[in-house]
Amino acid sequence: MADDVAEVRRRIDIVDLVGQRVTLKKAGKNWRGLCPFHNDRNPSFNVSQELGRYNCWSCGAKGDVFNWVMETQQVDFAEALRILAKQAGVTLSGRGEAKDKSRDERLEAAMADAQSFFVKQLQASDEAKKYIADRGIPTDVVAHWELGFGPGGDLLARQLQKQGHQLAECKEVFLVDKDPSGGYYDRFRHRLMFPIRDERGRLVAFGGRIIGAGEPKYINSSDTPLYSKSRVLYGLDKAKHTLAKTRTGILVEGYLDAIACHRAGVTGAVATLGTAMAEDHVRLIKKWCDRVVMLYDSDSAGQKAAERAADLLQAAGIGVRVAMMPQGEDPDTLLKTQGPAAVEKAVDAAMPAVEFRLWLLRQRVAVREDEFWTGAYAALATATDELEIERYAHELAGEYPGTKDRLAAKQAIKRQVASLRRGGSPTRTHRPGKVGAARAKTGLTGPEEAVFRAMLSPSTKQDAWQALGEAGLFVTGAAEDAAVSLRQTHQGQPPDGPAADWVPSLPEGPALDLMSSLFMDESAPTGSAVLADALARLRSLREERAAHEIVAKSGDLDDDALRDFHSRMQRLKDAETEENQGY
Ligand code: UTP
Ligand code: MN
Repeated sequence: MADDVAEVRRRIDIVDLVGQRVTLKKAGKNWRGLCPFHNDRNPSFNVSQELGRYNCWSCGAKGDVFNWVMETQQVDFAEALRILAKQAGVTLSGRGEAKDKSRDERLEAAMADAQSFFVKQLQASDEAKKYIADRGIPTDVVAHWELGFGPGGDLLARQLQKQGHQLAECKEVFLVDKDPSGGYYDRFRHRLMFPIRDERGRLVAFGGRIIGAGEPKYINSSDTPLYSKSRVLYGLDKAKHTLAKTRTGILVEGYLDAIACHRAGVTGAVATLGTAMAEDHVRLIKKWCDRVVMLYDSDSAGQKAAERAADLLQAAGIGVRVAMMPQGEDPDTLLKTQGPAAVEKAVDAAMPAVEFRLWLLRQRVAVREDEFWTGAYAALATATDELEIERYAHELAGEYPGTKDRLAAKQAIKRQVASLRRGGSPTRTHRPGKVGAARAKTGLTGPEEAVFRAMLSPSTKQDAWQALGEAGLFVTGAAEDAAVSLRQTHQGQPPDGPAADWVPSLPEGPALDLMSSLFMDESAPTGSAVLADALARLRSLREERAAHEIVAKSGDLDDDALRDFHSRMQRLKDAETEENQGY
C-alpha cells in the first residue's frame, strides 16, 4: 500500500491533474491560477511541480495529489487512491494496511447503524418528541440535522449485536460501555442525539443532551479512532458552502445554537464541541474563514472562553468580532423569544476584538487603576493594523490619568503599544511582505519564519536545524509545533538532500504545512546573516520573557537581583536599537 501510494504520487503530475480543472499559468517556480476553494479574484492558488503540492495563499487550501482528489471529488483517501491509480495505470496490491482499513469501515458501519437506531427511537418516543416540540424545533429541522433519541438501557447494544457488530469495537467508538460483570450497556441514555459530522460529512461522533433536567447536561463522544474533538466543528459540513463564499464564520458554543443560527439564515455558523478552542480548531477555521464573529454567552465563563478563543484566532491572523448576547440568552433562546431577525442583529452588532477586550477590562477594573492601562495596552497590541491602534489610542487618551494634554497622552499610549508589539507578542502576525511578492500566511513572526526558511538552503540548513532544537526559542505555538514535528521526523539529523525531495515526504502535520508554504512562496531565501539576526532576536526575546517571569514570581527582589535585572533589561534595550530589519 505504501509502495502503491509512492508509485501513484511519482506517476501523477500535479500540474496536469489540477490543470484539468483550473487554468494554470507559469509564475516563477510555481504554476498559478484562481483558487477553486474560495471566491478568488486575484490568482492566489499555487501549484508546485517540484513538491507535487498545491497551496492557496489566500484561503489556506493545500495538499498533494490525493488531497486534491479528496477535496474536489468529496471522496476519502482510499477512493482517491483508486481513482489516481487507475489514471496512472498502477495496479493496487490491496494488501498492507488492508486490515486497518476494514476495521475503520466496520467502525463507520456501527456508527451509521447507531444513527439509524437513534432516528427510529425518536419516532417511537412521545416523551422525546414532546421535548423537541416544547423547545420549538420543527420537524423539518429535526430531519435536516438528523436528530435522534437514545433511550438507554442496553437497547442499542442489543441492536448492534443483532446487526453483527462486535460490541468491543462499538465501545471504541463510544457507543456502548462495559459493566463490571462483562455486559454491555448504552452510553447515551435518555438523551436527545446530535450526530456530529466532519467537514466532509462523515459521521464521526455523537452529542447527547439529557431530556429535561439532569447531570451531566451533555455527553459527547470522547476521542475515538474516527474522531478527534479538536479537529471537528459541529455544523461545518453544512456551513462550508456558505463559508466558501463569505469566508466569515459564526462561532457559537452549543449544538442548538448552531442549529438556531442556521434556522435564522446565519448559515455560516459552527460550534466547538463541549471543549475550549484549540490550535487544531484554529487551523480548521483558517481553512474556511478569514474572519469570525463569536456569539458566546455573556456570563463570565462565556467571556473567558471568548477572550481565549479570540487570542488564538487573532494570533493566526483571523479577523475577530465578538457579539455579547443579552444577559442569559444564547442564539437558541434568542431565536425562540425574539425571532430570526434578533439573531442576525446580534451578529451585525458584534464589536471588533480590541473593543471587546477594552469592554471586558472596563467591567473588571476602574480606569484610574494602573491595571486598566496595562490591560488596555495589551488589548490595543492585538489590533490588526496601525489605523485601529490610532483610533483606540485617540479614544482612550481622553481618560489618560495625570494629564490634560490629549495629544501627549495619545503618544504615550501608542508608545506603550508599539513596544508591546515589538516584543514579538504571539498575537502579532508576520510583517507585510514586499509589495507584489506572494507570501505564505504562516502565523509565525518574522524571525521565526526566517529560521524555518533557512532550512531550505544548503548553506544555512545545519545552523537552522540546531536552532530548531533550542529550548524555548520560539514565541508562537505554530513555530513550536512545526519545530518539534520536524525534529521528531528527522531524529537528530537534519534532512538530507534538496528541499524538493524531503519537504513533500514529511508526514501530514504542522511541519509539512509550514515547510511547503515557505518552499512555494517567493520571498528571498534566508542568508546566513539574516539567520544570525533572527536567532539573536529570538534569543533576546527569550531572555526578556525569562526576566519578566523572574519579576512576576518574586515581588521582593533584593538589591543585587534588582541591579542584575536592570542591567539585563538595559542590554536587551541596547540590542533592540541595533536590531536589523532584514527579514
Ligand atoms: P450550554 O450549557 O450553554 O448549553 O452548553 P446549550 O447548548 O445552551 O444547551 P441547552 O440550550 O441548555 O439545551 C454549551 C455547549 O457546551 C457543551 C455542549 O456542546 C453544549 O451545546 N456542553 C455543555 C457539554 O459538552 N457538556 C455539558 O455538560 C454542558
Ligand atoms: Mn441553549
